[in-house]
Amino acid sequence: MLDLIIKNTNLPDGRTGIDIGIAQGRIAAVEAGIEADGAEVIDATGRLVSPPFVDPHFHMDATLSLGLPRMNVSGTLLEGIALWGELRPILTREALVERALRYCDLAVSQGLLFIRSHVDTSDPRLVTVEAMLEVKEKVRPYIDLQLVAFPQDGYFRAKDGVESLNRALDMGVDIVGGIPHFERTMDEGRQSVEALCRIAAERGLPVDMHCDETDDPMSRHIETLAAETVRFGLQGRVAGSHLTSMHSMDNYYVSKLIPLMAEAQINVIPNPLINIMLQGRHDTYPKRRGMTRVKELMEAGLNVSFGHDCVMDPWYSMGSGDMLEVGHMAIHVSQMAGIEDKRKIFEAITVNSAKTMGLEGYGLAKGCNADLVILQARDPQEALRLKANRLAVIKGGKLIARSAPRVSDIFLAGRPGSVDASAYAPKA
Ligand code: FE2
Repeated sequence: MLDLIIKNTNLPDGRTGIDIGIAQGRIAAVEAGIEADGAEVIDATGRLVSPPFVDPHFHMDATLSLGLPRMNVSGTLLEGIALWGELRPILTREALVERALRYCDLAVSQGLLFIRSHVDTSDPRLVTVEAMLEVKEKVRPYIDLQLVAFPQDGYFRAKDGVESLNRALDMGVDIVGGIPHFERTMDEGRQSVEALCRIAAERGLPVDMHCDETDDPMSRHIETLAAETVRFGLQGRVAGSHLTSMHSMDNYYVSKLIPLMAEAQINVIPNPLINIMLQGRHDTYPKRRGMTRVKELMEAGLNVSFGHDCVMDPWYSMGSGDMLEVGHMAIHVSQMAGIEDKRKIFEAITVNSAKTMGLEGYGLAKGCNADLVILQARDPQEALRLKANRLAVIKGGKLIARSAPRVSDIFLAGRPGSVDASAYAPKA
């Protein structure tokens, strides 16, 4: 007995004309010609159906705070950190929750149903942690939110940094974070990686560090992170976020580093929008892009997923919760414009990110959770090109967001007039 059938879909793997049958919140069948009496029917009219978008790197405690208490004048990473330091003492739990819930509403409308957020633990009040734990519970029916204990001002460098991070983990934060390149010295950065991996091993938690978010080619904490991952037996459970210094590293050194990262099964999380905006700021011309080596890391078999990182906060005044915009920028900055390249980029904002977050039941196979998005595009390449409209967002077999077809996309997709808006309306 099916509850819902989505007819005539195109799937990310290239199959066309496929129906998806849904029963009791799960995908019951994926094949052509599904019929069932009494089931609600949505005709996708040959549009792409994807599993929901997944953002493996975000800052939910800072989002939508743009302009508080002032704007970032230089637009640099370091002024952003200083500005966040000005805002942090006046943060309230109520305001943090209100902004985060507004962002989560936006995320749902964008088909973004899984988010890993770093939460700053530098202020010993831990009001950020209290607020994000509250948000995690509130959004649970529609968004899976993972939280990372993130020592923004340095694990060793911040006063009370060590104690605050550990208290955040005691309060229920899921993942151990870090920021080794921001510690006082390279050596203290190395020590922080060792200490934080040890905590993760002892507590049985994953690790996700801001790592080498700098243009300094000698910022090599990813090497230590990979080595400690192997030493503590954390393979596959550790993520290196940003890794921008790899852009500037010596090629011979990288030829040794990438196999070490592969041995440690490091999950790589570049943040294309923020990296292209914030890196290379000390360069005159030519200016470096500050994007890690996406293509080479993918070719070496590493799991690469892209994060949004920031939306309207002290570091980034733009953003809209749109993972297709993140992928769109990744295509440009990584110069991955071939058809196969773009398929890989689409995977990086869906299945690869799901792997990074360790999601269970994610995907479009029979037996997976009935979480999916109908896009106003025919295939992943077109979805990325158009940053395609989300016609319908479905969670657990229930329609939770929808929008009317965008006229510009109808023309840009070369099929004027072929979309019937009423096809996507839920039946009473
Ligand atoms: Fe970040």
